[in-house]
Amino acid sequence: MLDFKKVIADSIANAVELNSDELYSFIEIPKDSENGDYAFPCFKLAKELRKSPMVIAEEIKEKIELNSEIIEKVDVVSGYLNFFVNKSKLAQVVIEEIQQNNEYGKSDIGNGKNIVIDYSAPNIAKPFHIGHLRSTVIGGALYKIYKYLGYNTIGINHLGDYGTQFGKMIEGYTMWKDEYNLEGNPIEQMMDIYVRINNLCKEDENVLEKCRNNFKKLEDGDPYCVELWEKFKELSLKEFEKVYELLDCHFDSWNGEAFYSDKMPEVIDILEKSGKLQESQGAKIIDLEDKGINTPIIIKKSNDSTTYATRDLAAILYRARTYDFDKALYVTSYEQVLHFKQVFETEKLL
Ligand code: ARG
Repeated sequence: MLDFKKVIADSIANAVELNSDELYSFIEIPKDSENGDYAFPCFKLAKELRKSPMVIAEEIKEKIELNSEIIEKVDVVSGYLNFFVNKSKLAQVVIEEIQQNNEYGKSDIGNGKNIVIDYSAPNIAKPFHIGHLRSTVIGGALYKIYKYLGYNTIGINHLGDYGTQFGKMIEGYTMWKDEYNLEGNPIEQMMDIYVRINNLCKEDENVLEKCRNNFKKLEDGDPYCVELWEKFKELSLKEFEKVYELLDCHFDSWNGEAFYSDKMPEVIDILEKSGKLQESQGAKIIDLEDKGINTPIIIKKSNDSTTYATRDLAAILYRARTYDFDKALYVTSYEQVLHFKQVFETEKLL
């Protein structure tokens, strides 16, 4: 591959009539790319040339001959010569290198290290939307990159498969199943049932109560409710799989939110013991004001149900124990920034 540093060293050598190899060893990479891609500290030559670095820098700049197809520009900044590489040349050189080397960029820096990547995570019985697609593409790329760097990489699909909405789905499906053919276009059909039952819940408190009860039954392992929930999940996954196949995405775990339903009591117990859990309007919360987060995290709602955040806390505990990770990455939408700030702060208590 073309060595830009060598090109720079040779050009300086011509300008000052010194040995190129020594000059080569002086060239640095600036911390801030505003200061170029390579920098030459002229104070290194001050003694030999008996001039101040400032003067040397100016003189070299005057005399230096650069091929603009390789080095686009050189700036003088307080005794330094800052060189800017021609970016199209760089792109060309890198692409050539990739073509010649079928293990380009591969390394073993990750050997012996575990990394979990939480990505994609669509919600079952709902459409796979653009936000999920973005997470899938970015997360999928990270997964492959980390693997290539030698990490033991674990891809996790933290499916949204838990919550009252499944109580609603069960109720709607039970009432109207003869009107729908879930095998045909499952996601669209399930969405339709969901919208319809949701509207009915708004009109009729009794129906809402039934839905809540279904969810409770689901949590308690009622066979009918569990069977339907599994059906919704299976149909959704079949649809999602099509996307994953197209994008060549891989998951090592499909443990979604529901997987943590029996793992939350321990989390609540630890938080209780930390002395940080407070009662507020019947709910259990942790105030994070002193950590610079204005909204408290809700661990348990006033009706005793757990939250999305509690499940993420249980997931961290589980993943730490199961995978002993060195790094845990989350690829989610920007809308979840507050949620994760709260979760990552609270997780320290676990
Ligand atoms: N299911 C969520 C959504 O669709 C994304 C989950 C992200 N991962 C997590 N561990 N909370 O918005």
